[in-house]
Amino acid sequence: MQGISLDFVGLKPFIQDYELKLMESSVFAAHDMLERKTGAGRNMLGWMELPSRISEEEINKIKACASKINKQADVFIVVGIGGSYLGSKAVIDLFTDTFNNLQKESERKHPQILFAGNNLSGKYLRNLIEYIQDKEVAINVISKSGTTIEPAVAFRILKLFLEEKYGVAGAAERIYVTTDSSKGVLKKISDANDYETFVIPDDVGGRYSVLTPVGLLPMAVAGIDFEDILDGAMFAAHVYNQRNIEHNECYKYAAYRNILQKKGKEIEILASYEPSFQYFIEWFKQLFGESEGKNLKGIFPAGVNFTTDLHSMGQFIQDGKRNIFETVINIKLNKSFIKLPKIACDEDGLNYLADKEIDYINKQAFLGTLQAHVSGEVPNIVINLDELNTYNIGQLIMFFEKACAISGYISGVNPFDQPGVEAYKKNMMDLLKMNDSINNL
Ligand code: PA5
Repeated sequence: MQGISLDFVGLKPFIQDYELKLMESSVFAAHDMLERKTGAGRNMLGWMELPSRISEEEINKIKACASKINKQADVFIVVGIGGSYLGSKAVIDLFTDTFNNLQKESERKHPQILFAGNNLSGKYLRNLIEYIQDKEVAINVISKSGTTIEPAVAFRILKLFLEEKYGVAGAAERIYVTTDSSKGVLKKISDANDYETFVIPDDVGGRYSVLTPVGLLPMAVAGIDFEDILDGAMFAAHVYNQRNIEHNECYKYAAYRNILQKKGKEIEILASYEPSFQYFIEWFKQLFGESEGKNLKGIFPAGVNFTTDLHSMGQFIQDGKRNIFETVINIKLNKSFIKLPKIACDEDGLNYLADKEIDYINKQAFLGTLQAHVSGEVPNIVINLDELNTYNIGQLIMFFEKACAISGYISGVNPFDQPGVEAYKKNMMDLLKMNDSINNL
């Protein structure tokens, strides 16, 4: 069942029908490159088949480990950066209770899930170690390359913490590794210590890896029905594979993005009216930013959480430089069922909204903002989700991955590499090594 539909009405004042038609050949060429595996990065297309090629054995292994982790840990720490954590964080935030991490251990249905290895902050790591001192802990260290410094630093500290607390053998029972099948230091450490290991397939890059054990194991620990996410993604992989620009909304979205960019709309803001989408937006930013931003090209991906950010970024979006378009995620049916109560004195003057669902008020904010932004020359694309459930999020993940690949090919870049990320790493390493040799003089 298709739980996603796109509404392009907010593009009408900005794009003529013929302009979409003109994009058809580029979209078809991009589609053919993906299907025939003839484009740049052709050996990194495994993400398209992930939902259908995952084996029963792997699903069972993920479930078994998740259940073991649930028994052994109060706190489960996911150690990874970029594509090695954003997808799982996004999905976990969407489908766990907003205040889950603040609940008492006895009230929680699954371990508290924390993230590390996504920064180089000493404060963050010191506070984390202090926090987990008296807790039962398990960790999942995730790195495709197995050499990324942020997770490597956090892993060394957490590994020592676990070994001091549980002994080397006990720690080994609590360390789960997700990495390449053969390459990288992490793989070597994992083999040497006999850690439970999950493989990131060779043909899947970091930011396209949420539907591998990278994302699925943390989701399973959080009690999320990851098989339903895979089912949704599999359905979307089929629906969004039509070689058709009119009916394939994913291809239409990719085409419109490129048309908008040619009209000077260089920034895409992904907006949502649900705060729990914050990390989904972060995931989107990495996906499009690293895939398209190269060779001096790319649409800058940004994100906002409305209505919160209407009070910070709203002014700029409405009235600032006109180089923005917006893509808005709209949940059609919200099920939070909380109404504004009526009070006799009406001291705050809100009785005109009494008995209205908070989600209804939120919806009017969405509709009002949409109108205002379109009038303010911000083209809007709306992605409607019938409701927020795992199946639809599986579809949305595949929708964006496919759109990103098509859009990247249309703009003439390789959407599957990230050469620019190396520049800071090289400088940082040079500085660390240079400072080290000075200190050793
Ligand atoms: O998309 C990518 O490949 C990157 O952004 C990676 O996800 C990120 O750099 C983390 O890399 P690794 O998993 O190798 O530690």
